[in-house]
Amino acid sequence: MQRLTLRRPDDWHLHLRDGPILRAVLPYTARVFRRAICMPNLTPPVRTVDQALAYRERILTALPEGLDFEPLMVLYLTDTTPPQEVVRGKATGLIHGVKLYPAGATTNSDAGVTDIARVDRVLAELAEVGLPLLVHGEVTASHVDLFDREAVFIDQVLRPLIARHSGLRVVFEHLTTAEGVAFVQERDDDRVAATLTAHHLLLDRNALFEGGLRPHRYCLPVLKRARHREALLAAATSGDPRFFLGTDSAPHPIGAKESACGCAGMFTAPDALGLYAEAFESAGALDKLEAFASEHGPRWYGMPLNEGRVTLERSPRRVEPVLPMGEEQVVPMRAGGAVQWQVVA
Ligand code: DOR
Ligand code: ZN
Repeated sequence: MQRLTLRRPDDWHLHLRDGPILRAVLPYTARVFRRAICMPNLTPPVRTVDQALAYRERILTALPEGLDFEPLMVLYLTDTTPPQEVVRGKATGLIHGVKLYPAGATTNSDAGVTDIARVDRVLAELAEVGLPLLVHGEVTASHVDLFDREAVFIDQVLRPLIARHSGLRVVFEHLTTAEGVAFVQERDDDRVAATLTAHHLLLDRNALFEGGLRPHRYCLPVLKRARHREALLAAATSGDPRFFLGTDSAPHPIGAKESACGCAGMFTAPDALGLYAEAFESAGALDKLEAFASEHGPRWYGMPLNEGRVTLERSPRRVEPVLPMGEEQVVPMRAGGAVQWQVVA
């Protein structure tokens, strides 16, 4: 039996939701990951420091006894976020970034930023206090092809933004394109880092239409061509410390996915680390998994590495077709199929 023991990892991009869904999904993450960046796109969004601290308390209350997990909070940036809120957030020591959702780009992004120029003073303040900007990097203009929205965002929004704010550090969340990888790699500093999801490392856009329309594989940014997936996998397994693990696990009730207008998001939390192990194994790079999952993220964020360990075992396990989620049900990634690596301790 092949086994792999790693320093305990963190998830640098996670959707935990709230209420009964939070209680249902949190244990999957907390049993493996020590910390997670908790995305603020709730309804209503987590815009203020007070809201973020209250959400943090709800997460801790939902945590089953005996699990040692630390939620890392993020503020949702709007056109009217006061720069002072960033200063307050930093002072608490519990806010670790501010999330930029271009308005309309994804789930619960309606309150997001309509024009980047409107948040210029907040961006300057972020650079000043040393908090990173976490970016959903897609333009929203309807005339831009869905598959090109990340690459266009880099040229139209991100390059000028980085040039304007020389002290600003940015996490390009859930990177999906070769252009995105090149954008991170072309710099000779670490001002721009990126999270990579397990699903974007394992699937290309053919998976959306395999034998029919597959709503549970629909996420944003949408899956791209094979050559992009290959570029992401090469970056993840390269050892470059600017790339790290962020699942973007995003649960939606089954009915919201299997719908005439289905929600974006893949629920990967139950097998997250096993899925990453599969991706790294496919590239012959299991020896690079620990740094990607457990070292690069904390170093970039300036946090201590975790002390604990997790052990993965190579033994295929069938994935449940559906899982209970409060009063609803959710379909996990690989539902009805098998995952090759399991966390056993
Ligand atoms: O697929 C996605 N789901 N992408 C996002 O950016 C948001 C997320 C969600 O909250 O469901
Ligand atoms: Zn996300």
